[in-house]
Amino acid sequence: MKFFIDTANLDQIKEAEALGVLDGVTTNPSLMAKEGITGHDNILKHYIDICEAVEGDVSAEVISTDLEGMIREGEALAALHPQIVVKIPMIEDGVKALKYFADQGIKTNCTLVFSVGQALLAAKAGATYVSPFIGRLDDVSTDGLDLIEDIRLIYDNYGFETQILAASVRHTMHVINCAKIGADVMTGPLSSIKGLLNHPLTDIGLAKFLADFKKGN
Ligand code: G3P
Repeated sequence: MKFFIDTANLDQIKEAEALGVLDGVTTNPSLMAKEGITGHDNILKHYIDICEAVEGDVSAEVISTDLEGMIREGEALAALHPQIVVKIPMIEDGVKALKYFADQGIKTNCTLVFSVGQALLAAKAGATYVSPFIGRLDDVSTDGLDLIEDIRLIYDNYGFETQILAASVRHTMHVINCAKIGADVMTGPLSSIKGLLNHPLTDIGLAKFLADFKKGN
């Protein structure tokens, strides 16, 4: 399973990259705003900075909601850097845009996916990635992992190449369960990646090894 970090914070992106396990980055307008990145030119520059900090795919989201606008914006984003993946919302014109970009050979990430039907449409339209938001489903008492499982089943039934990108991952158990189900990618905060490191028995064991070494030297 690929690990993407879901943030526009460059320090956190660099920290995850330095760990050596990062495969890409996802952003959205809310994450950009959280970092104080506003204004068209600053946002585009920030995407380039992110691409230069990591090796994998970097999702950059369009703001337009009509087909023409999504195509114009998406083409401009894709031209920024070869690592850019155009992030398109799951709406009617979004589906058309996914098909357009697939025909152009431009990578896409279909975002704001909350149902299997939406995921099926995204795959039919040729999306590179589909992003089911599991944390936000959990927030409304619906098991987000069930959605990942159902999409996996349907994509495998028909050999769809669209990669399941489990998004809105909030914690380590989301990461582990996505890996069990067979999500292709997960995107979450730095804490969901670095949290996988922690186990008290590792800390206790290491302290004992070091103490015993000191005794003998
Ligand atoms: O990748 C989607 C993500 O940015 C949404 O996460 O935690 O705001 O639901 P969250």
